[in-house]
Amino acid sequence: MTDPGYPSAPTAPPGCPAHAGAVRLGGLEYQQAPSQLYRTLRRDHGPVAPVLLDGDIPAWLVLGYSELTYVTSHDELFARDSRRWNQWENIPPDWPLMPFVGYQPSVLFTEGEDHRRRAGVITQALEGVDQFELSHDCRLIADDLIGRFAGSGQAELMADFVHALPMRAVVQMCGMPTSGEDTRRLVDDLRVSLDAGEGDDPVAAYGRVGERLRQLVKDKRAAPGPDVTSRMLKDPAGLTDEEIVQDLISVIAAAQQPTANWICNTLRLLLTDERFAVNVSGGRLSVGEALNEVLWLDTPTQNFIGRWAARDVRLGGRQIRAGDCLVLGLAAANTDPQIWPEGHVGAENAAHLSFSNGEHRCPYPAPLLADVMARTAVETLLERLPDLVLAADPEELSWRPSIWMRGLDALPVRFTPVMQ
Ligand code: HEM
Repeated sequence: MTDPGYPSAPTAPPGCPAHAGAVRLGGLEYQQAPSQLYRTLRRDHGPVAPVLLDGDIPAWLVLGYSELTYVTSHDELFARDSRRWNQWENIPPDWPLMPFVGYQPSVLFTEGEDHRRRAGVITQALEGVDQFELSHDCRLIADDLIGRFAGSGQAELMADFVHALPMRAVVQMCGMPTSGEDTRRLVDDLRVSLDAGEGDDPVAAYGRVGERLRQLVKDKRAAPGPDVTSRMLKDPAGLTDEEIVQDLISVIAAAQQPTANWICNTLRLLLTDERFAVNVSGGRLSVGEALNEVLWLDTPTQNFIGRWAARDVRLGGRQIRAGDCLVLGLAAANTDPQIWPEGHVGAENAAHLSFSNGEHRCPYPAPLLADVMARTAVETLLERLPDLVLAADPEELSWRPSIWMRGLDALPVRFTPVMQ
């Protein structure tokens, strides 16, 4: 790769001819304009690009829509158990991507029949969530959060609203009250384990999350309720308590960050793009259209790690070796010009790969529930604060330095103060 616009780019890891010219994923230039990087990668490498992860660990980035569809629909070739990786001897225990690739006995890393059993229990439990009730609960949570800053005429929405809403909604869905010291601590520990900041101890926080969910499972065994945890416990598949704890952690983690960033990127679009003109009554396009456009063009889960080749296999003209790691380039695939001539990206249909595809895709009712949460959050905010505007230049908004999750560092807004 030779694009001078990407100074943190290439160098091949020694002794790896397949990764000659591999591109380091990361760096500021990636974070601010990833679509530019995907275009360059596609031009220079085709639909499957050799890349280097943190510490120059080699992997493949699957950028092509049809290649990505192929990978995700052939889990016997591209499997999910990270213990298959041929790079473990090069990975230090404190590797930054360890939280995503370190094997855990949860639904995320299981394969075959065992995966179908675990994913089936989650699907059935999520299907029991009443979408009207969820919308009502989200409305109450949104009202509570907005009430805390409405009188001041200004807010930083990422901290004050965007992250808190889906977290509280999901915790409640799993059978815990939305308020109370216990829940507040769990929400805090989840935040630290999913997205640690300076001075946080994510390992200790993750340990406390496990303890709290073990207690929740015990309580629900004794006194079941109309919630996801109780439905998982009574499923005839008969998962053990520890399997349920692991899968509850996966559900909460898989729901919170992507849904929060879906809300964030939708609000950014609404507040910065004149087609939506939310501060002038009668913007031409709706919140629903903004939510869908974000899934095509600014999807929260940009890249997902990943799959591991079960045997030697060719893909997109590349020789993939058994145990190689493949990163799912969901955002890149959504804008693949082979599928969508550039002008049609953002179309009204939902054929994007933002919820992935195949056996391990985001389990069926989850995208609908995320849509209810995101839509209710955005609509309630705009309804309660109708003259909401950005309190910064759009160019001043900065993206978080992550190649995995696309969301803003901060979203400052102002509005006419509302007295309660
Ligand atoms: C109520 C909200 C949500 C819940 C409960 C949820 C739950 C889950 C679960 C349990 C998995 C693991 C599936 C498996 O390995 O079998 C998963 C995977 C995933 N989810 Fe979601 N999710 C939610 C929202 C979202 C949102 C908003 C997005 C992005 C727009 C998203 C994108 C994904 C992706 C890309 C995967 C990885 C699929 C793969 O490995 O191929 N999810 N989700």
